[in-house]
Amino acid sequence: MQSRVGSVSILEEGQIPPRIIIHQRNNHLPLRLLLLFLLLGVGLVFLYVSMYTYGCIRIHDFSSSRIQTHQACVQRLASWTRPPLTLVHEMNDTELFSCASSSLNKLPSNRTPKIAFMFLTRGPLPLSPLWDKFFQGNDRLYSIYIHSSPTYDPDFDPSSPFYGRQIPSQVAEWGRMSMCDAERRLLANALLDVSNEWFVLVSEACIPLKNFSTIYTHISQSQLSFLGAFDEDSPNARGRYNWGMEPEVNLSDWRKGSQWFELSRKLAVEVVRDAFYYPKFKYFCRADSCYSDEHYLPTMLTLLSPRLLANRTLTWVDWSRGGPHPALYDVGELTENFFKDVVDGESCMYNNHTTNLCFMFLRKIAPSALDHLLSHSLEFFGF
Ligand SMILES: *[C@@H]1O[C@H](CO)[C@@H](O)[C@H](O)[C@H]1NC(C)=O
Ligand SMILES: *[C@@H]1O[C@H](CO)[C@@H](O)[C@H](O)[C@H]1NC(C)=O
Ligand SMILES: *[C@@H]1O[C@H](CO)[C@@H](O)[C@H](O)[C@H]1NC(C)=O
Ligand SMILES: *[C@@H]1O[C@H](CO)[C@@H](O)[C@H](O)[C@H]1NC(C)=O
Ligand SMILES: *[C@@H]1O[C@H](CO)[C@@H](O)[C@H](O)[C@H]1NC(C)=O
Repeated sequence: MQSRVGSVSILEEGQIPPRIIIHQRNNHLPLRLLLLFLLLGVGLVFLYVSMYTYGCIRIHDFSSSRIQTHQACVQRLASWTRPPLTLVHEMNDTELFSCASSSLNKLPSNRTPKIAFMFLTRGPLPLSPLWDKFFQGNDRLYSIYIHSSPTYDPDFDPSSPFYGRQIPSQVAEWGRMSMCDAERRLLANALLDVSNEWFVLVSEACIPLKNFSTIYTHISQSQLSFLGAFDEDSPNARGRYNWGMEPEVNLSDWRKGSQWFELSRKLAVEVVRDAFYYPKFKYFCRADSCYSDEHYLPTMLTLLSPRLLANRTLTWVDWSRGGPHPALYDVGELTENFFKDVVDGESCMYNNHTTNLCFMFLRKIAPSALDHLLSHSLEFFGF
């Protein structure tokens, strides 16, 4: 027998030298393995990089809770051709906000953009039957999110568009930063559905003033987002500024506005992503002398994106009666003339031209007005 390790071998003609066969094998096996590992490596790097660009992985952070968060976030964002099946998740605010703010650049091009209607309420939504009527037939163009008191257990019928739309909520108090937290929580949860393009904050006392197609067109074609933001030298506006906010927020940057906003996706991400102005407001704008839900978003967005703001809200409200709360409207006051003359009687700028179509929503409406509004909704609102 020819020795395999022998260095010299004399072969008969036509016989293949065994050493050469062995060498061929030895040469190709590592090459194939190398190629396999290389491909595997490239695949892993690609997977990691693509997950990293989702923002759901932070390098050098492999704690088990983080990994769970990665999964929760990746699962949500991975299904971006359809909305998340459930609004339930285990993410805390930090994780949720980081997940939501990473979703901006991942928009599929063929999506149908939706309006996210975000209901900020303590308990029930007594006017929901009117909203049901408003939403009817527009399923592809809206989504609903509800932030309520964490102990409140809503009892919507499974056929209702409000069914199962409550997000993981926490206690929110008027005038406190916890109210802004609730708004950011709503925005972050709504951002997880990449079809949501516009974000409208409404309360349990709000009603829509126009039919769905009018409101959808008005919002989707506007170049600006509708957020009240004004500067006024009065005790209730500039008077609430705290000099401790300098130099990040100067007195001339200080803005006031009601919290009922409509924001584009870009601005919604800015709100959820903000870690720069938030601590200033949490520390320097405290209840009794300052009400953060009237100042945080108007001031912060004026500093970040002044050119994208209309500086007015789409939500009509009546402060004329004085006091800390706006007027509550009931059956007697809610007539066709009221909606036509009072609400549509104002004028404002919309995409550089003057219009009388300034308001899409109205508050505050008493629950007892529901039946009246339902039976007159066609003449009042066109739906
Ligand atoms: C959320 O959880 C992370 C750890 O997973 C923690 O670092 C962070 O402080 C938590 N945030 C809040 C608001 O509880
Ligand atoms: C909505 O209202 C507008 C203006 O009132 C009207 O022209 C339009 O036909 C209505 N759309 C639907 C779908 O009812
Ligand atoms: C606030 O004022 C200071 C001093 O004039 C200036 O340096 C700083 O840039 C201002 N801050 C903002 C946000 O404009
Ligand atoms: C809203 O206010 C900002 C800053 O105060 C300003 O730059 C912007 O032009 C205003 N928008 C409109 C539509 O007037
Ligand atoms: C409104 O005016 C601004 C500045 O003059 C311009 O950039 C913008 O395109 C105009 N918008 C419309 C809808 O004409």
